[in-house]
Amino acid sequence: GFRLWLRYAPLAEAEAAAIRPALTAIMLPPEPGPVAAVAAAELERGLAGMVGRAPIRTTRLQAGTILMLREGDPRLREAGVDLRGLGDEGFVLRSASVGSVPVTVIGARTEQGLLYGSFGLLRHLGQGRAIDVLDLRSAPKVRLRVLNHWDNLDGHVERGYAGDSLWDWWLLPDWRDPRLTDYARANASIGINGTVLNNVNASAEILTPRYLEKVAAIADMLRPYGIKVYLSARFSAPIEIGGLQSADPVDPAVGRWWAQTANRIYARIPDFGGFLVKANSEGQPGPGDYGRSHAEGANMLARALAPHGGVVMWRAFVYSETDAADRAKQAYAEFQPLDGRFDDNVIVQVKNGAIDFQPREPFHPLFGAMPQTPLMLELQITKEYLGFATHIAYLGTLFEEVLDTDTGHPAGTVADVVAGSGQGDRLTGIAGVANIGDDRDWSGSTFNQANWYAFGRLAWDAALPADEIAREWAAQTFSPRAEAIAPVTDILMMSREAVVDYMTPLGLAHLMATDHHYGPGPWVGDLARPEWNPTYYHRADREGIGFDRSVTGSNAVSQYAPAVARRFGDPATTPDNLLLWFHHLPWDHRLSTGETLWAGLIARYDRGVARVAEMDRLWSRTRPFVDAERHAKTATFLDIQANEARWWRDASVAYFQSVSELPLPPGAAPPA
Ligand code: GCU
Repeated sequence: GFRLWLRYAPLAEAEAAAIRPALTAIMLPPEPGPVAAVAAAELERGLAGMVGRAPIRTTRLQAGTILMLREGDPRLREAGVDLRGLGDEGFVLRSASVGSVPVTVIGARTEQGLLYGSFGLLRHLGQGRAIDVLDLRSAPKVRLRVLNHWDNLDGHVERGYAGDSLWDWWLLPDWRDPRLTDYARANASIGINGTVLNNVNASAEILTPRYLEKVAAIADMLRPYGIKVYLSARFSAPIEIGGLQSADPVDPAVGRWWAQTANRIYARIPDFGGFLVKANSEGQPGPGDYGRSHAEGANMLARALAPHGGVVMWRAFVYSETDAADRAKQAYAEFQPLDGRFDDNVIVQVKNGAIDFQPREPFHPLFGAMPQTPLMLELQITKEYLGFATHIAYLGTLFEEVLDTDTGHPAGTVADVVAGSGQGDRLTGIAGVANIGDDRDWSGSTFNQANWYAFGRLAWDAALPADEIAREWAAQTFSPRAEAIAPVTDILMMSREAVVDYMTPLGLAHLMATDHHYGPGPWVGDLARPEWNPTYYHRADREGIGFDRSVTGSNAVSQYAPAVARRFGDPATTPDNLLLWFHHLPWDHRLSTGETLWAGLIARYDRGVARVAEMDRLWSRTRPFVDAERHAKTATFLDIQANEARWWRDASVAYFQSVSELPLPPGAAPPA
């Protein structure tokens, strides 16, 4: 599993034979830089693997040349390639004729675009597709496509299920692990162009000269792949490592300290991306400690970075005891009034939902509600609440669901808001909390690699359908044969809904066991703070179940645009899959399917279990196409998932039955 989706396994001979003469040589652009060089190296590696012969480097056009053309090259016109509208990172792939020689053109304004185009060509080939009539254009709509590593300096990864951190702080900067080049290749292949190295629960030490040398070494390794390094900054660092008495953002000494720190960073890392900040949330320090707003805190850091072109990604995930009545309302309450108050190089980073990366949540009400402020979407790739490494849960469908949701605001869908549509040339971004560690397979399981892949692809192009991404991944990871792609895609596409069914159906949330969030714990109700308890979220009693967020309850619906608030405010117009997120309803309430809430709840738990069994059946069909090692490990993980889906169902149903005191509906599987 080490090679991820970049296996470049041999294609069937008939396909390879057709491609070989069409891709015989590579011609670099004039005066190539390091990025074009790694692009060519990747093409050589990929073609050697897939068709058994690496193209030669040439300076004279010959039939079958992969011709890399940058902006301004007169051959672009001859090849019929138009670079307009592609931005700095987009590319064109085109079969063309230049000087009557048949070639494949990779055209882009920059070398970065050429690198993405090279990966685009390899992705195309890896799906067993022909290249004789290639005509593809692709460009990202979002500027910052960034991984967030929640890696601590001692190597532990918070919410990581794939081993320890990839960054070996002990041996850096002297030992530059070649694995980091593979990390960079994997990310560049899906368009990721930034990475935050350390946990949002940050240690100030990362900003000391000793660590900055190490960070600079990582940045050097990622740079040829167009990946910038960012750091999580601890707001109280001026006190902890700067010897100041305060971290108050309006104190000039504090501003000076951050400016000097930024200067120190940029002296070592001239293309440093900027800071990610978690402030005044879950005990982290922040401007609120001094009575200042998030905007005052963010802008102070932004001023330190602005002279160097850096940005501040300021998180809206605020979680403290201030509104225990409904935790879901806190971020909107603190941030929405600050709309328009952030400096130009600040982007507010908002989780997809208002609570915390649940198997299903409605979209975050801040999307569309801060038209004067760039908002960055934060997704979680690591499966903190979806079964860690062992359960298969393809998040392409979850990400797609969020991105495609209409916010009801003039901006449009969440994807439109994130792309900054209609807002001119301002900052845009998507972040994904990484599921990467030093496990041999990087992500703790083969199928978790699909989530890293899907994040990158959707960050690049939010309009890509999740099932198409699933097929791409399956072809490159296992085999481009239809008999392999079909079952793998089916597994991926049903997997997340299966997890929702057996963990938190009908809009339930946060029923996981305390702290680690693995396995069921809906009965937990005695923890110190109300919103730590699953009972706070489901509120089940003899009469009914669900969290009333309508006007009769916490009125969290009022944080949405009026049309959306109306829809979610009424059980009759709330979709079944979000029903109990917004409403507390009697057990005999009728779902849109006609079944009672009680029967429907149990049917969903059963369906989740049945779907895992179906995933297992589908997986067994892939045996001829997958090596024994990856096949066996996935099969074992599916056994674990099947057992634990039953555990979830039986424990949850038994608990809810103890509360509702209702009999199991006929046909429901009795708890084991
Ligand atoms: C969740 C998660 C924490 C994390 C936090 C955050 O609460 O459990 O581990 O620190 O999110 O996003 O900041």
